[in-house]
Amino acid sequence: MKLEVRIERTSAPKVHPPETDLGFGRHFTDHMLLVDFHDGAWSDARVVPYGPLSLDPAAAVLHYGQAMFEGAKAIRGDDGAVRLFRLQRHCERLAQGAPRLCMPSPDPAMLAHAITELVKVEEAWVPRARNTALYIRPTLIATEPFLGVRPANQYLLYVILSPVGSYYGGDTLKPVRIWVETQQTRAAKGGLGAVKAGANYASSLQAAMRAKKDGYDQVLWLDGAKHEMLEEVGTMNLFLVLGDELVTPALGDTILSGVTRDSIITLAKARGIKVTERPLSLAEIVEAHASGKLKEVFGSGTAAVVSPVSELVTADRRMIVGDGVGPIGQSFYDELTAIQRGARRDEHGWLTAL
Ligand SMILES: Cc1ncc(COP(=O)(O)O)c(C=O)c1O
Repeated sequence: MKLEVRIERTSAPKVHPPETDLGFGRHFTDHMLLVDFHDGAWSDARVVPYGPLSLDPAAAVLHYGQAMFEGAKAIRGDDGAVRLFRLQRHCERLAQGAPRLCMPSPDPAMLAHAITELVKVEEAWVPRARNTALYIRPTLIATEPFLGVRPANQYLLYVILSPVGSYYGGDTLKPVRIWVETQQTRAAKGGLGAVKAGANYASSLQAAMRAKKDGYDQVLWLDGAKHEMLEEVGTMNLFLVLGDELVTPALGDTILSGVTRDSIITLAKARGIKVTERPLSLAEIVEAHASGKLKEVFGSGTAAVVSPVSELVTADRRMIVGDGVGPIGQSFYDELTAIQRGARRDEHGWLTAL
């Protein structure tokens, strides 16, 4: 299914920020994509000048939080061409998650097509410097003005774009220090953890802020029932190198099925590395650390690609992991970013040209 995308260009284009000072999510491009949903159908896909949305104060999203989003990237390669990384997969995740919030699923192919049209309009906004990207943020919100507690019947799907800088300020990965959170919970069984719902991020903020105040970069999330099992790290999926095995918590309804996670698993298997997706307890990690079996810990996500963990700290122990940036995490970072910028063969069909 393809929805025709109407394009209305801005008459007041912005000055582009310097590529050396992009940061993350601070700058937005000249246009955005809007698609309405009402009377059971998507309509009026349009690229319009970027600007505030007009919402009724009674819009359901503002009261009962029917909201979810995605995060993907367009990358300018060494050859100057712009490529979208696994955009279809990101659109599928949005479509698969929407029913959990009783929201309508956009057709992934339609959404990927409409986003591609938007990125084409904004091609000049895709930065050129190494490790920069154009971050793509699709968002789905309930717009119906109605205060009864029930799923809304009007929605807005919109997509904004943000040129983002190198996550690490260069090619060198910077390890993070992690607080193991045993009080608060990001996601509970039967809840929204597997969906990129805004509510998950609201529930994670307080523990993350407390950890930051105490000198940590992010928190390691454990299961909501007993705080014994490892789930995610900050807003990333978690990987551990245990001996010569790459291990990541098995997916369930408390863990987001990361596109980077899936990419790393695929690359690891292609290299012949043993990869295991299974439940992982904190007790097992403590033991593996004590015995020297815990070689590396890293997070995976669209923004950082790979984020090495140098320390895991609980109320009663501090575990120093390897030398900070481990060779396995670094190698996946190098391989994935090389594929993304077209410097390595895209054997898995992850890239689409504009
Ligand atoms: C909670 C959470 N887990 C994991 C990820 C990683 O997912 P992806 O690799 O698709 O970006 C994200 C988003 O980046 C996230 O917000």
